[in-house]
Amino acid sequence: MLHQKALITKVEQENFKVKTFHLDLELDAEPGQFVMVWIPGLDEKPFCVAGVKPLRLSVAKVGPFSEKMHELKKGDFIWMRGPFGKGFELKGKKVIMVGGGYGVAPLRFLEENARKKDIDAIFIMGAKTCTELMKKPKAKILNVCTDDGSEGMRGLVTEHLEVALKEKVDCVYACGPERMLVKVLEICEKAKVECQFSLERYMKCGFGLCGQCSCGGLMVCKDGPVFTGKELRGNSDFGKKRLDASGKGIEI
Ligand SMILES: Cc1cc2nc3c(=O)[nH]c(=O)nc-3n(C[C@H](O)[C@H](O)[C@H](O)COP(=O)(O)OP(=O)(O)OC[C@H]3O[C@@H](n4cnc5c(N)ncnc54)[C@H](O)[C@@H]3O)c2cc1C
Ligand code: FES
Repeated sequence: MLHQKALITKVEQENFKVKTFHLDLELDAEPGQFVMVWIPGLDEKPFCVAGVKPLRLSVAKVGPFSEKMHELKKGDFIWMRGPFGKGFELKGKKVIMVGGGYGVAPLRFLEENARKKDIDAIFIMGAKTCTELMKKPKAKILNVCTDDGSEGMRGLVTEHLEVALKEKVDCVYACGPERMLVKVLEICEKAKVECQFSLERYMKCGFGLCGQCSCGGLMVCKDGPVFTGKELRGNSDFGKKRLDASGKGIEI
């Protein structure tokens, strides 16, 4: 797939380490799918689609590529290919979305779609502290929590998920740090509720050729990045291991 050139039309500061880039492209993509962003002479990295009309990407500053992205301004260009992978599938009439860190971005897009389909969503979003919270979705039921209680309820998103699951829901959608996802799976299995998770692995090709994104036999770029709880149950690498840029297995 060829790269498309995209003009940055707006840059929003979500919090002290995440910026959302609005691009002059409209993409036919589902929440949970991703694009490979290329900055010539630097690198190419995957980012979740955070919105499609216009295309939006939320980028956390964690290393050389994302630092360069954060220097870009309205009027600059990036190149991208995609969308790739399998996104979230909306199911039923009442759902819960659980987002940690920049994982909130694709779930905000999913919540927008849920509203269009008259699906009720309880949105649980969290961060360590208030300065790390992402912008809030327009969800009717929004539970904001921080580990230190500096905004919203004190505690982890998973603690609030356990409370929310006292009501019957059709599916739980989660995106965020993998340790959080492991806990969400455990809680959903106990409550016997279907769940879907967006995973991350170091990626090179983005479409199933190089094997870099392997997760216990699954190719995250092609088989995912969204997986059901059933697909992840018993996976030897889920929450435990990923491959670094050189292909060496490292602990999560
Ligand atoms: C499908 C997918 C969707 C993604 N969506 C987003 C998004 O919407 N917003 C966003 O900010 N980031 C997203 N990422 C992660 C992003 O691609 C990486 O953080 C990227 O490596 C940043 O490049 P860098 O050069 O800035 O940092 P790097 O130097 O490459 O990485 C910084 C740190 O993050 C770790 N890391 C890098 N890539 C991954 C990975 N894939 N999984 C786990 N740890 C990793 C590195 O080991 C290092 O510790 C996504 C990744 C995948 C696979
Ligand atoms: S990134 Fe190459 S196979 Fe997934």
